[in-house]
Amino acid sequence: MTPQERDLLTLWDLTAEELMALFPRAAELKVARQRGQETRTLPGKMLGMIFEKPSTRTRVSFEVATVELGGHAVYLAPEGSQIGRGEPISDTARVLGGYCHGIVIRTFAQARAEELARWAPVPVINGLTDHSHPCQVIADLFTTYELLGDLQSPRYAWIGDGNNMAHSWIEAAAILGLDLVLACPEGYEPSPAVLARAREHVRRTGKGRIELTHNPRDAARSARVISTDVWASMGQEKEAQARRKAFTGFCVDESLLLLAAHDSIVLHCLPAHRGEEISEGVLEGPHSAAWRQAENRLHSQKAILELFLGKAR
Ligand code: CP
Ligand code: NVA
Repeated sequence: MTPQERDLLTLWDLTAEELMALFPRAAELKVARQRGQETRTLPGKMLGMIFEKPSTRTRVSFEVATVELGGHAVYLAPEGSQIGRGEPISDTARVLGGYCHGIVIRTFAQARAEELARWAPVPVINGLTDHSHPCQVIADLFTTYELLGDLQSPRYAWIGDGNNMAHSWIEAAAILGLDLVLACPEGYEPSPAVLARAREHVRRTGKGRIELTHNPRDAARSARVISTDVWASMGQEKEAQARRKAFTGFCVDESLLLLAAHDSIVLHCLPAHRGEEISEGVLEGPHSAAWRQAENRLHSQKAILELFLGKAR
């Protein structure tokens, strides 16, 4: 398989070594940018960006990353392109493949991203599906690597919905052998298939731990890295009220944080609903790494683009 044919649809598309190599590279790229040094490692590379759901961070960070690496990004939304008029994704894949060196897709079903990847002659990168959000969790791991200097020893907690973000965290825990406890309300657990695959990997490698509880206090206890996300994801807006009820007690607030390590960091992929999954005080407080995490989308995605679109150094 040539580097051009590889896709990033879930974190399983990366080996532990490849994943770990992204963090020092993202750090190098971050320092270079802070010093005003150019890093044009992808000159002339064109990135297609299909967004079938809204986005601020993913869209802008991928576009800025591509431009700063010397390439160019083209944004496509359903409205304003033939995608919204029903042109099959398999046709779009082949057409964009003739113009672009890689394609980012944000969509609903993971199967649609897979279909795009099957037909596109260039790498396809998942910019969020209902199933997973690999690029976000790569930025979250990079943020942890920057702040704690080590990914393997901290205890990780996921508090909230067993959603796309939780799935990518579960995959990261399996691939890197992390100690992860997820607390989700009953009925809102992660996909059993995602858990089973990850636990099988943990069993085979003998590294890591992935536990599921319904009690957020159990997950928070002595955790060093606490992550959360909205209770109603994009596409679940109609369930918001029912979810608010089901998630009572799952707010990452000051009292929950008291149970965590004294030097814990709190991650939130944003956008946040203050007073629901996270309190204003925690999001804006000294433990929050959310703003650094958002900025780190840029640096870590540059490292991802170099890996998948081929770096010229
Ligand atoms: N965290 C994240 O993916 O944000 P956007 O929806 O703004 O891209
Ligand atoms: N789980 C959220 C993440 C947003 C970045 C969603 O899918 O809407």
